[in-house]
Parts: sequence; structure tokens; C-alpha cells
Amino acid sequence: MSQNKSQNNTVKIAPSILSADFATLGAEVAAVDKAGADYIHIDVMDGQFVPNLTFGAPIIKDLRPHSDKVFDVHLMIDTPEQLVADFAGAGADIITVHGEATAHLHKLLQTIRDLGKKAGVALNPATPAESLKHVMPLLDMVLVMTVNPGFGGQKHIDLNDKISAIAQMIAAERRDIDLSVDGGVCADNAQSIINAGANVLVAGSAVFKGGAEHYAANIAKLRES
Ligand code: DX5
Ligand code: ZN
Repeated sequence: MSQNKSQNNTVKIAPSILSADFATLGAEVAAVDKAGADYIHIDVMDGQFVPNLTFGAPIIKDLRPHSDKVFDVHLMIDTPEQLVADFAGAGADIITVHGEATAHLHKLLQTIRDLGKKAGVALNPATPAESLKHVMPLLDMVLVMTVNPGFGGQKHIDLNDKISAIAQMIAAERRDIDLSVDGGVCADNAQSIINAGANVLVAGSAVFKGGAEHYAANIAKLRES
């Protein structure tokens, strides 16, 4: 079992609001906050980088008063350098960009840090761990996609070898860097993902299933497993 030794071993649960009821998004965010979420995972999609559309910075700004939890903003958009300042201004705490979506990843991570935000890189399933090598000093989070991004409710792809490789890269940095896993995470696979070295579990359908009265139990089930 490899471990992300640079940080405490508490697992964080990050409900993805992609699976929430968009008609009542503020109440949904407040409900998962109250149910025990550590981060609120916010999926921004542009219909270009991924074949789906969600929302942009104005909606995140409107959600901000509904929770004091960390807003973990996952940008699935092309040329994110054009919009990161807007997301910073809207109240994002962590801004994660896809390494595949920008030609100037190193510069963009520095820009996010200069905006006073934590900087993350997300990797699609086919993108190797080694692509992070030259940006490790600029990272606060690595987000390993275990589905091809765009939609909630997809089948989890087992990439535990990649998670372990990244956990070792993080351990070598000797500072707190979140290792987050996103896509098809549920009670059945959470333990193996954590054993591989992750410390943040993003979960959409596994948290939001059954309606608001089930959110606390769904989060607790993930945490316990
Ligand atoms: C997929 C998103 C995920 C997704 C997770 O593109 O980045 O955050 O909402 O949903 P589940 O947990 O249902 O796979
Ligand atoms: Zn996501």
C-alpha cells in the first residue's frame, strides 16, 4: 500500500454537484455541506473540451453564500487561462485545470497561485502520471479522472497504479498536496482508491442518490468504506 505521506491521512469527501438538482442548487450545496462534505466539487463544462455544458463563474458566485466549505472547482474547459480570474473572483478556493486543455500549464498554475488560490491539475484517464513531473512544485491538488470527463454516473475505470505513482511523486514533494479521484467513486471501490494513495474522494451519483434525506448516510458510507 502506498501512502500520501506528506499530509494527514484523513479522507476528504467532495460531493460533485453535477448530480444535484440544478433547479435548487443553492439548497443542494447547503444540504451536502450540512451532511458532512469536506469540499464542494463544482464541475464546469464548456461543451468543447467535454461534450457537455454546465455553468460558469456567475453561478458559482451565487452559490458562495450557501456554504463555507472549500469550493473545489474542476474546470473542464478549453483554454482555461482565459477564465481563471473570473473563477477566482467568484469564490473558488481550489482551481483545477486539465493538463490537456492548455498549451501553457506551468504558466497557468502560477497565475492561479498569483490570484491567491490553490492550484490543481486534472488528468484524463489516458494522460500519464509523468506529465506532472515538471509542475509538481506548483501543485496543491492532483485530480485523477477515473472516467472520461463530461458526465456523472459513468463506470469507474481502475487506475490505481496511476494513483500510486502520483502518490509517490507527492510524497517526494514533502508538503500537502491533495490527491483526488473523480469518476464512478462509490462505497465498493473507495477503499482500494484510498489504499492506492488518494486522500480526496469526489462522488456525484453516490452522494446525491436517494434525495437530501440520504446525503449524510451516503457520505458516511463512503467515509467508512
Ligand atoms: C465528470 C465529473 C465528475 C462527475 C462525478 O466529468 O468531473 O465530477 O460528476 O460523478 P460520478 O461520481 O457520478 O461519477
Ligand atoms: Zn469533477
